Amino acid sequence: MANVVLIGTQWGDEGKGKIVDLLTEWAEVVVRFQGGNNAGHTLVIEGQRYALHLIPSGIMRPGKTCVIGSGVVVDLKILLEEIEILKAQSGRDILSQLVLSDEAHLILESHRRLDQARERQRGEAKIGTTGRGIGPAYESKMARWGLRLGDLLAPQEVLRGRLEVLLEQHNLLLEKIYGEEPVSLELVLDELKEAAAIVRPAIKKVPYAMANYLEKGESILFEGAQGTLLDIDHGTYPFVTSSSTMAANACASSGVGVTSINEVIGVVKAYTTRVGSGPFPVELDDQVGEHLSVCGGEVGTTTGRLRRCGWLDMVALRYAVLLNGLDSIALTKLDVLSGLKTIKVCEAYRLRGEVIDYFPSSIEDLAECEPVLVEFEGWSEDISGILDYEMLPENAKKYVSYIEEKIGIKAMLVSVGPDREQTMIRHNPFLI
Ligand code: GDP
Ligand code: IMO
Ligand code: MG
Repeated sequence: MANVVLIGTQWGDEGKGKIVDLLTEWAEVVVRFQGGNNAGHTLVIEGQRYALHLIPSGIMRPGKTCVIGSGVVVDLKILLEEIEILKAQSGRDILSQLVLSDEAHLILESHRRLDQARERQRGEAKIGTTGRGIGPAYESKMARWGLRLGDLLAPQEVLRGRLEVLLEQHNLLLEKIYGEEPVSLELVLDELKEAAAIVRPAIKKVPYAMANYLEKGESILFEGAQGTLLDIDHGTYPFVTSSSTMAANACASSGVGVTSINEVIGVVKAYTTRVGSGPFPVELDDQVGEHLSVCGGEVGTTTGRLRRCGWLDMVALRYAVLLNGLDSIALTKLDVLSGLKTIKVCEAYRLRGEVIDYFPSSIEDLAECEPVLVEFEGWSEDISGILDYEMLPENAKKYVSYIEEKIGIKAMLVSVGPDREQTMIRHNPFLI
């Protein structure tokens, strides 16, 4: 039995979903602990693709419990849609596998509208959010007038009262500041009532449920969304998401003590991508960038936007190892580097003439950082069918060993394709 936290080490889309689906084979419970449907996780199982946004990536494994923790922001419309799609794809009852925290905050129509209105107002300086209402939903939570899933279980007048308080604030902003139509209370209320009728049985007090799983000795996999560099505290602020994407938040956001965690895994893409605005020192605007984008299929699962691409950034990766206390990494998309004559890695930054090895807090400084690159000889073989690590081309193994040496921890697995099967597990934290 082991309890494992898995997070993204870069700017998201590292392939977390695929790895969570894979590792769920050995866990009884999977917990999404932050973010909302800004996330987009693609799983490929026996050639069939599944796109997940809110539901934990362990859901395709029958019988596994999938928890949406208190730190997640939940858009019920999206949740219900996702349940229906997965039901049609799998022929299984998805809701019976879900446990939804009564403390998780709701994303309502007014949050989505505010997110989009703010981005429009920012113009050129926009964050490039997913427009899903994530930021405004976390704002409501912190301002302490947010609605929670548990409010759906309260008497009708209590729910209506809470919604009145929130919409009074939101409609003032929408009408007076952004010149938009107000959001109708009755409409939101009707939607909530409809959704409540469906999800009610899954709403639970998650910390007690978690204590129960722990007591029974069930293995738990905590699933992070986004990535370390999108973290609200340590990421490239303000070009970040509105939640803590750190491994440490897995416990806080699901009501589990930190002493229960056995291993922390950081998912690392063999190169780097970023969606939305913000500085990105390793960004490539050339044929190599095009190779990574095309061969890596780097199109956002949530918004369909093209992801910006660049070399692996060791400055950022070392920072992620430190911030999350990583025990190991899961290295993904190594196959995408096949066919490149030369592979480069950013070992340090040059900032106004000085070589630095730390990740700057100021985006103005980061924007001025130029990557100090080292070169590796590439390999030409297609590695997507290789199942034994030792069978990888020598240059591919050298690349993996270099990363391991530089960060002082091992790759517990290497992924060479989107399918569940295209993975070489070298160390399984659930089997020790
Ligand atoms: P997440 O947000 O971290 O779960 O990652 P996404 O699912 O948004 O993006 C990763 C994309 O790469 C998805 O389309 C996956 O199917 C795909 N993928 C994952 N691992 C690999 C891999 O090792 N090789 C290739 N070629 N694709 C992969
Ligand atoms: P997964 O879980 C990549 C980015 C957005 C934007 C910034 C803020 O699939 O890795 P938000 O809507 O959260 O307020 O947007 O964060 N972003 C992601 N980028 N992968 C994600 O999730 C992301 N979730 C948010 O593009 O730059
Ligand atoms: Mg994604």
